[in-house]
Parts: sequence; structure tokens; C-alpha cells
Amino acid sequence: MDFTIGGVRTEVRFVERMATLDPASVAVFDATTHRLFGGGFPPDRSVVLPAGERSKRWRSVEAILSRAAVLGLGRDGRLLGVGGGVVCDVTGLAASLYMRGCGLALCPTTLLAMVDASLGGKTGIDFRGWKNLVGTFHPAVLLLVCPAALATLPDREFRSGLAEAIKTAVIGDPSLLDLLEARRGLVLARDPVLLAEVVQRCLRVKGGICEADPREEGRRILLNLGHTFGHALESWTGFRGWTHGEAVAWGMGRAAALGLALGATDPAFARRLAALLAAYGFRLETPAGLADLGPALRLDKKRRAGTLQFVVPRRAGDVTVVEAADGDIAGALGARGMG
Ligand SMILES: NC(=O)c1ccc[n+]([C@@H]2O[C@H](COP(=O)([O-])OP(=O)(O)OC[C@H]3O[C@@H](n4cnc5c(N)ncnc54)[C@H](O)[C@@H]3O)[C@@H](O)[C@H]2O)c1
Repeated sequence: MDFTIGGVRTEVRFVERMATLDPASVAVFDATTHRLFGGGFPPDRSVVLPAGERSKRWRSVEAILSRAAVLGLGRDGRLLGVGGGVVCDVTGLAASLYMRGCGLALCPTTLLAMVDASLGGKTGIDFRGWKNLVGTFHPAVLLLVCPAALATLPDREFRSGLAEAIKTAVIGDPSLLDLLEARRGLVLARDPVLLAEVVQRCLRVKGGICEADPREEGRRILLNLGHTFGHALESWTGFRGWTHGEAVAWGMGRAAALGLALGATDPAFARRLAALLAAYGFRLETPAGLADLGPALRLDKKRRAGTLQFVVPRRAGDVTVVEAADGDIAGALGARGMG
């Protein structure tokens, strides 16, 4: 499987076991992925970040750049990120900056990074409290995907990845949505064959959209389903209490409520989505109102020339962009039921 995104070919290689990591790279781990997968990697070529969202900051990028410079990594060298979306995002940002851009390989080790964060070229850090405020586009040339690596993932992180898988299915693969509904037990039991299929199908949807619109000038915005609300929640909570996937799942519920209020979302689909998210254990109740989330939402607004836009689902495999006024947004934040 491979994709060409913004002129860069990304080869996706599925492996049954964690492959031997290329020792010529400078590898970036977090503390957990270093413990699990970094044992054999040369220590002087390893950068180990603290685990979690707090590592999505400039200091991490600087540590990676410093190690690459000290080792004399050439422009033809590679940074290799081994970890979840946090490691993928900061390693990607460092790779885009080092010598104005060096090679990037990613070995995603969370479900969220396998189905979403590792593909598509978006890199980033949180900045001054705002989620992903600073970043670049820099696709990886190689993705090493090992579904067996998910065996050690804590349940909450695993479910967090399922939120992005549900999101991808809603956007572009209705039969994946059927599968996630009908085979929930096997999915939650982490059946390796089923997980490999889920990851492949998500990558196909995301890869296809990113190939057509690498810089998010059109259709790629649809991948933000659940993210405008979700990012605002993450910023408001200071990135504590909700994982990224949990915030996205909650945001999808809010997007469906908004779509319902604006007449864009099929009520039966809104009920189906809410039931699926609840069945996977996601919190759908709203912990914050417009007064709380407003500043973070308004930052999104500035980015889009004064209009606040949201991606909302119409039905399975069909999502659209709507513009919403403050009253509609406040209503969606307060809405309890969905149809
Ligand atoms: N660039 C993109 O397109 C994109 C897309 C979606 C999300 N993201 C970003 O991804 C980040 C979230 O990623 P995440 O959910 O993977 O979080 P994460 O990277 O923080 O990983 C979650 C936790 O799982 C641990 N972990 C990783 N692999 C493990 C394994 N195999 N076994 C046990 N523990 C393991 C990590 O140490 C960490 O504590 C967010 O910052 C989000 O903004 C980026």
C-alpha cells in the first residue's frame, strides 16, 4: 500500500512483529515506547521524550534537532518516530525543519497513530496552551505498521484510537461503520486480523483524501469531523482529563447535534452514531458551555476568515461543512439527545 501526498510517496509496510529499526536513523521514542521497543536501538541515536501530550512542545523538537546536529545527520538522513500521535507529530515537525527538511519514517504504536496521525503529513506542537497551533506539512516516506504492537496499549488509549476509526468510517467507509457496530466484541478483544483490516481501511480513506488535497484546501477539511469541538475541549481542559480520541468522540456527538439543529444530519443517523459511541464507552455529556469553549473555538474562527465552520455528518459515508452562529453552537453544546 502506498500513497503520494504533496509529491512525497509514503510507503506503508505492515509487519507482523516490531521490525528491527534502522540504526542509521535518529530515533525518537517516548518513555513508554522506548521501554517496549527501543531496547536494541543505539542509545546515542535515541531521543526519549516524556510520554503524553505534554511532549508536544518546542523543547521536544529542540531536543531532536540537537541530537541530529550533534550526530551530524545529513539532509539525506532520517528521523524515525516510534510511538503514538505525539511522537509522530513532534518527530515530523523536527524532520520538516532539520536542514530545511530531512527524511521521516514513522512507526506508529497506538491505534490512533496507526489509523490517523502517522499518515498525511501534518506535524505539530501545542503552543501557548493552544492545540496544534504550530506545525508544518511533511509526509513520512515510510510507515511501519505493526498491529501486534497494540497488545500492550492501555484500554483507554486503545478506545481513543477507535474514536478516530469511527470518525474515518463516518467520513468515507460506511461498511467499516457496519463492521465496527457488528463486531464490537472482537474489535474490543483486539483480534489482530480484524484490527489489521480496520487500520488498512482507515489508511485507505485518509490516504485517498490526503492525496487529493494534501494541504487541506478543500476536501481534507472533512477529516476534521469532531475536531473543532474536540480541540476546543482539549484546550479548555488544559489537555487533562480527556484523551484526544475521547475529545474527538465527544466532538462528533456535538457535530451531529449541530447538524441536526441545522437540518443537515439525518436524525436516524444521529441516533445511530450516538448509540455506537456510547457502546464503545465514550462520554457524550457536555462538560462545558460556549462561554468556556468560546476562546478556543474563536481561534478556529480566525483561521477561517471570520466564519466558524464545522464538519457535520449527514449520514454514513457522507459529511459536509456548515457555518454556524453562536446560538446554534451553544444549542449543540447543550443538546442532550440526538434526535
Ligand atoms: N498529525 C495528524 O494527522 C494527527 C491526527 C490525529 C491525532 N494527532 C495527534 O496525536 C496525538 C494523540 O496521539 P495518541 O493518542 O497516540 O497519544 P500518545 O502519543 O500520547 O500515546 C498515548 C499513550 O500511549 C503510550 N503508548 C504508545 N504506544 C504504546 C504501546 N504500544 N503500548 C503501550 N503504551 C503505548 C504512550 O506512551 C502514551 O502514554 C494528539 O496530540 C493529536 O493531536 C495527529
